[in-house]
Amino acid sequence: MPLPALTLLVPQSRPVPPDDAEADLLALYAHAPGVVRANMIASVDGGAWGPDHVSGSINDAADWRVFRVLRALADVVVVGAGTARAEQYTQLGRPDGLEHLREAPLELALVTRSGDVPPVLAQAERPPFVITGARGAAAAHAALPPERVIVVPTAGDTSDAAGPHAGAAPPHASDVDVAAGLAALAEHGLARVLCEGGPHLLADLLAAGRVDELCVTTAPLLVGPGASRIVAGEAPAATPPQARLGHLLHAPGTGTLLARWLVPRA
Ligand SMILES: NC(=O)c1ccc[n+]([C@@H]2O[C@H](COP(=O)([O-])OP(=O)(O)OC[C@H]3O[C@@H](n4cnc5c(N)ncnc54)[C@H](OP(=O)(O)O)[C@@H]3O)[C@@H](O)[C@H]2O)c1
Repeated sequence: MPLPALTLLVPQSRPVPPDDAEADLLALYAHAPGVVRANMIASVDGGAWGPDHVSGSINDAADWRVFRVLRALADVVVVGAGTARAEQYTQLGRPDGLEHLREAPLELALVTRSGDVPPVLAQAERPPFVITGARGAAAAHAALPPERVIVVPTAGDTSDAAGPHAGAAPPHASDVDVAAGLAALAEHGLARVLCEGGPHLLADLLAAGRVDELCVTTAPLLVGPGASRIVAGEAPAATPPQARLGHLLHAPGTGTLLARWLVPRA
């Protein structure tokens, strides 16, 4: 796919011309260890997916240009199992031409209550990490090598995930403790986290105060009322955190806007 021209609008206006090495974008999106970054795309009217119920149908070449830079810089991509299924994730690789930036392969981590891992991932040469709670542990262990299964406490636990309280769960108590999941990934040396959604997982990470940067592409499309927002779930944040604009890029060819928002930790 040819790289489209971009213009940096904020903090200062200047062109970011097509560049296979992406020197400018790599500097703009530098990813420090410990930083949790989420990358999402929304239509102008706030939809997280297009008519075919996947976000692939609302992205474009400008979004792809940033998407590949973010993957080149991360240690691990974290997604909800719903996204892995809908978007048919397979084993990840470093983006072509940017492989030299990190020595280690790009890992994938799936967050799931059910422990239901798509076979294409479970049978991959390098299977994903699976972050689950007591409810999903048996299924995840049946599908994956033990070192790839991370069992963390769930919302209803008062002890550990395998403890006596697991199972006596109120509604939503099988939501895994995403902060514990991220801490376990860091123990595996995966400290630069890129969350690629989906909307339910992003809502949980935001509610846990574990998103430092939210990169949002605004696609110049109006998809109508059928699509979710990029966060989904139930209660709105009690005190909405105030985000600060890190930078804003514009694709003159299409009007696509690519923002990097900095989110204070709760
Ligand atoms: N616009 C964008 O940038 C973007 C990005 C990603 C995805 N999407 C779209 O979003 C749609 C999927 O939406 P979604 O909200 O269902 O995606 P999701 O958040 O990826 O998936 C929800 C599933 O992930 C697991 N999960 C999420 N949070 C969890 C938690 N705290 N604890 C335990 N498990 C958790 C559960 O898996 P189990 O069912 O296995 O228990 C849950 O059913 C697709 O259409 C996809 O194309 C859009």
